Amino acid sequence: MSQVEYDYPLQDAAGATCTAHAWAKVPPALRPAERAELKGRAAELLRRHDAVLVAHYYVDGDLQDLALETGGIVADSLEMARFGRDHAARTLVVAGVRFMGESAKILSPDKRVLMPDLDATCSLDLGCPPDEFAAFCDAHPDRQVVVYANTSAAVKARADWMVTSSCALAIVEHLKSQGQKVLWAPDRHLGRYIQEQTGADMVMWNGACIVHDEFKGLELELLRREHPGAQVLVHPDSPQAVVLQADVVGSTSQLLGAVVKGAAKEYIIATDNGLLHRMRQLAPGKTLIEAPTAGNSATCKSCAHCPWMAMNGLQGVIECLALGEGEIFVPEPTRTRALGCIDRMLDFVRRNPAAVQPPVRGFVPNVGAA
Ligand code: 13P
Repeated sequence: MSQVEYDYPLQDAAGATCTAHAWAKVPPALRPAERAELKGRAAELLRRHDAVLVAHYYVDGDLQDLALETGGIVADSLEMARFGRDHAARTLVVAGVRFMGESAKILSPDKRVLMPDLDATCSLDLGCPPDEFAAFCDAHPDRQVVVYANTSAAVKARADWMVTSSCALAIVEHLKSQGQKVLWAPDRHLGRYIQEQTGADMVMWNGACIVHDEFKGLELELLRREHPGAQVLVHPDSPQAVVLQADVVGSTSQLLGAVVKGAAKEYIIATDNGLLHRMRQLAPGKTLIEAPTAGNSATCKSCAHCPWMAMNGLQGVIECLALGEGEIFVPEPTRTRALGCIDRMLDFVRRNPAAVQPPVRGFVPNVGAA
């Protein structure tokens, strides 16, 4: 984790968007006594501020545990958005990356949305600047604009639909059945997968997630030979050579469900290794193997873990609540415009529940301990 070989090229003036900056801000590992102390303080602050913790599966395991122990949630992007919108708390603490905090604020403008570190961003978001994206849309006025959740509020404001990896396939399938053509952004791998599955007419933005883009087809093939009984679970943000070897392709929730319900003993997982924390808790008897990213070689930028997700820590939760820092604001009219495409997705999912596999619920670690 400490070896940084690569800086994301689209740095802002302060260098805040480069991966070296992110790795440098990753909190150090905690000793058990420190962990217990920080979790206790964070839980107390959540209570005192009428706040709930909404965490993504890729963040640090301590934060995932804290969320579940305090009545929050650990979930994929879709469920995070729904949970934050529907929860009664007046403050949402979003542990994830910036677009997740923005989606929460767009859906709940009257709630305070805090994040442990506002520099936690996403290569897909960075790789799709709103002005260039608007020009791309202008060049294709006859297409429905479908954007991945991993985009800025300004990009969403230009879209007809937002999708997450849980429901993207079903929504593009629906658009195709209506005779619609699609403009897709920004993940080229997810877009290609959906195009292959649906046969929809799609033009695509050329973006990628730095975590999933690193999984290697040839190395995966060699690993599979060593584990012939293993099921291969792949997030669709991965390259085609990896997706083609999958037994299950799905969102983080769907991959978790596949491990929990699967009959196999061994699983090779091609997604951010933060998800393995929850997989181990919910499927303790199963062997989980990380898909190869060519290890710590010169081309490995993230080694299957997002540096921006890794910036989230217990101390950050404490500081944002205690100091009121890290608040997310989405200005009007961007918020209202972006709300349209998110609401359209949530409405589609509500009317077509079978199109989305339900999130996995179950074991909550150390309930009552916080
Ligand atoms: P999920 O919606 O599957 O949780 O994906 C999140 C993500 O950021 C993948 O790049």
